[in-house]
This record gives sequence, C-alpha cells and structure tokens, in this order.
Amino acid sequence: MDLELAGRCALVTGAGTGIGRATARLLAAEGAQVVLVARRLDALETLSAEIAAEGRPRPLSLAADLTDPDAPEHLRDQVNDRLGRLDILVNNAGGAEPAGATLDEALWRSQFELNFHAKRRLAEEFLPLLAAGGQGRVVNLVGILEPFGVSAAQAAVAACILWSKGFSRAVADRQVTVNCVAPGRIDSEQVRAHFPTRAAQEEFARQLIPARRFGTPEEAAALIVFLASGPARYITGDTFTVDGGMHRSI
Ligand SMILES: NC(=O)c1ccc[n+]([C@@H]2O[C@H](COP(=O)([O-])OP(=O)(O)OC[C@H]3O[C@@H](n4cnc5c(N)ncnc54)[C@H](OP(=O)(O)O)[C@@H]3O)[C@@H](O)[C@H]2O)c1
Repeated sequence: MDLELAGRCALVTGAGTGIGRATARLLAAEGAQVVLVARRLDALETLSAEIAAEGRPRPLSLAADLTDPDAPEHLRDQVNDRLGRLDILVNNAGGAEPAGATLDEALWRSQFELNFHAKRRLAEEFLPLLAAGGQGRVVNLVGILEPFGVSAAQAAVAACILWSKGFSRAVADRQVTVNCVAPGRIDSEQVRAHFPTRAAQEEFARQLIPARRFGTPEEAAALIVFLASGPARYITGDTFTVDGGMHRSI
C-alpha cells in the first residue's frame, strides 16, 4: 500500500526517544521531510544524522520546551520560514507522574500544560499550514483512561481526547483529520523509569496485559504513521489503542 507520505512534511514532538523517535524514523523511511522537536537537542541531532545517513531527507531539529506557552508559535514561525509547509503534526511529547490521592497544585498545572495545552496550541498554530496542503493530519498521543489512582496526566489526556473530537469536527471540511493514539505499556524511556527491571515489566504484563508483554515503540509508530497517511483520509475524530489488549472497557 502506498501511504502517500513521500514529500509530505511532518513535525513530531518528543522525537528524541521512544514512540516519537520510532515515528520519526518510520515517517522518514516513507519519504517524509520530518521536523524533530524536544528539549534535548543532542538526541534530535543524533537521530537526524542517522536518518540522513540512510539516504532520507535530513530532518530539521528544533529544541523547544513545550510547557512554555510561547513555544508553539515559535515553532510555527521556524517551520514556516525554513520549510513553508506542514502536512502532519504528531503531538507525541508527554509524560506521567505517579498517581496519588491528592497532588501538588504545580503538578496539576505542569501536566495540563504538557499533555493538553501544548498539543492544542500546536494544532491551532499549525492549522492554516495543515489545511493549505489539502491533506492535513493531527495525531495526538494520549493514554488509556482506566485510572489506578488520581493522575493529573490522565485528566489532561482525557481533556485532550475530548478537545480532539471537537477539533476534528470543526476542521473536517478543510481536509484535516484529527485522531488520538492511546498506548497501553510501550517500552520507552519513561516506562523504563516506572519499571526499571525486566522482572517488573514481566510481572505487570503477566497480571494486566493479555499479550503478556510490553509493546515496542515501532508497534505504536505503525498505527500513528497509518493515521498520518493519505489512505487514512476518511478516519477522523477517533481514539485508537495500541496496548496488547490491556484496556478493559470498550
Ligand atoms: N510508553 C507508554 O506506555 C505510554 C503510555 C501512555 C501514554 N504514552 C504517551 O506517549 C507519548 C510518548 O511517550 P514515550 O513512552 O515514547 O515516552 P518517552 O520516551 O519518555 O518520550 C517522551 C518525549 O517527550 C519529550 N518531552 C517531555 N517533556 C517535554 C517538554 N516539556 N517539551 C518538549 N518535549 C518534551 C521528551 O524529550 P526531552 O526530554 O528531550 O524534552 C521525550 O522525547 C507521551 O505523550 C506519553 O505520555 C506512552
């Protein structure tokens, strides 16, 4: 199947590690010009050099802290000046914190900045460019909504899913699709921080994941890249899980 990604321009946040890194690699392998965004510029430049060495268009690396409310506008200006277009926005940067009964006020705010407002602001800033290309795609990384306790990140993710649905309806007539991808447990940098040993991963998977293992970043990236593709043009306003069967509600 031709994913119609050759020559498209895609921005991936949190592209230096985990799911974002795998997504950027796969988009580049399909011929897309990729823009890599995260705070750690060194990880982005390493990835950019790897992709260029494979004969793909060299990705542009842009350092940004997405909890800074001005970052989305600055990124839009840089992409506009350097590339003049954007077809695909993968809002992947995000993170979680240990759940508790009550959480620090500052944590609520920072989790909503990263896991909701940054994604919303980026989509709003890039909407004119996404619409101009005639095949705009927004993919928001969220999470499954089955709390183990109170999690500010999960509440922000719930807000992101609801906003995505409304946004998808508002922009559908501009040929822009908006979807969410909800990983269960994918073996990434932040997941390894919560499950530092293989035994801890295996015990969690044995109890809660029907597939009996954590997923790989590439397995999540495959879904994200399909939703970003040309043939996914009639799929919008939905949330898709990639979790080895972990979530229980339908
Ligand atoms: N892996 C899972 O099982 C799982 C489950 C549910 C949801 N998710 C979601 O999936 C997405 C990808 O996560 P992952 O598992 O691949 O984690 P990861 O490897 O830790 O990647 C997260 C990325 O986000 C970037 N980031 C974090 N804070 C940022 C900030 N303030 N500004 C800019 N970039 C920032 C990080 O780069 P820098 O540190 O360089 O900025 C990092 O590259 C996240 O939204 C996560 O919440 C993952």
